[in-house]
Amino acid sequence: MTRPKVFVARRIPDVGLNAIAAACDVDVWPEQLPPSPEELRKRVAGCTGLVSLLTDRVDAALLDAAPGLKVVSNFAVGFNNVDVPACTARGVSVGNTPGALTDATADIAVALLLAAGRRVGESATDAKEGRWLTWEPLGWLGRDLAGRTLGVVGMGRIGFATAKRLHGGWGMKVLYTARGPKPDADAELGARRVDLDELLAQSDFVSVHADLNPTTKGLFGAERFAQMKRTAVFVNTARGPLVDQAALATALRSGTIFAAGLDVTDPEPLPPAHELYGLPNCLIVPHIASATTDTRDAMARLCADNLLAGVRGEPLPNCVNPEARK
Ligand code: DGY
Repeated sequence: MTRPKVFVARRIPDVGLNAIAAACDVDVWPEQLPPSPEELRKRVAGCTGLVSLLTDRVDAALLDAAPGLKVVSNFAVGFNNVDVPACTARGVSVGNTPGALTDATADIAVALLLAAGRRVGESATDAKEGRWLTWEPLGWLGRDLAGRTLGVVGMGRIGFATAKRLHGGWGMKVLYTARGPKPDADAELGARRVDLDELLAQSDFVSVHADLNPTTKGLFGAERFAQMKRTAVFVNTARGPLVDQAALATALRSGTIFAAGLDVTDPEPLPPAHELYGLPNCLIVPHIASATTDTRDAMARLCADNLLAGVRGEPLPNCVNPEARK
């Protein structure tokens, strides 16, 4: 029997790669940087399955170059890099990895909130560069978390896990936005669903967990930052294009808000000369929210399960477009 051909757009953890290789003929992109769109099209032509990353654009041009493709297994929970309607129209199933990275991402949201609020990055740089002159009663003053209000923009799995940590650990009050009510958050965390205007006006810390889609692109612009408290700390672990970065830089520079912590930017990587890096109250890490060994292994397992189900023509365990098989 011929084995399905599969292209894996970057080396993923062995636990996933080995499972795929046991059942398929696998071509793995060997480079650290992603394949160009042309290279991706070339490699995927003739394949039944594709493992893509959030850096790989899966669009109509790619799909048309691979008429035998049955499944795109995205090694991420987010799938804004995939044109899902174009996949559905061609009967291509799209899988993602929900659940696997919830805790790791919530941990980084908390880490950024704390680090930006307590000026950890800025003060560590000052120490290293000789600006730690003495113990200063008025030096590096930050914001307390205990008992303050957390605003969760997008109360999905990761928003909930973030709020649970901060409510349980620091006694924070939780406000959130969501498309519908979240009875678990209300019951377990005493959380309250509000509109974005109220959330931004009331919150001491704002943590973004919304999907990136045409309605949320640029959601945080100058007007939204102006609605926040001057003492607010803004954290984004979702997707960079949710934020107008020029407006964020202005808000940080002018003291419209206190600080920001970003795991995601637009573009990625953010060029080292970008103005946000020059602001002491902006802490940026390179999209590391899911970067733990166990989490990446769990993502690789889910990704392989989706891929293998797809090449066999079976329903994917985690499918974002089940209608593609109808
Ligand atoms: C995802 O899975 O969408 C994350 O952003 C990658 O860590």
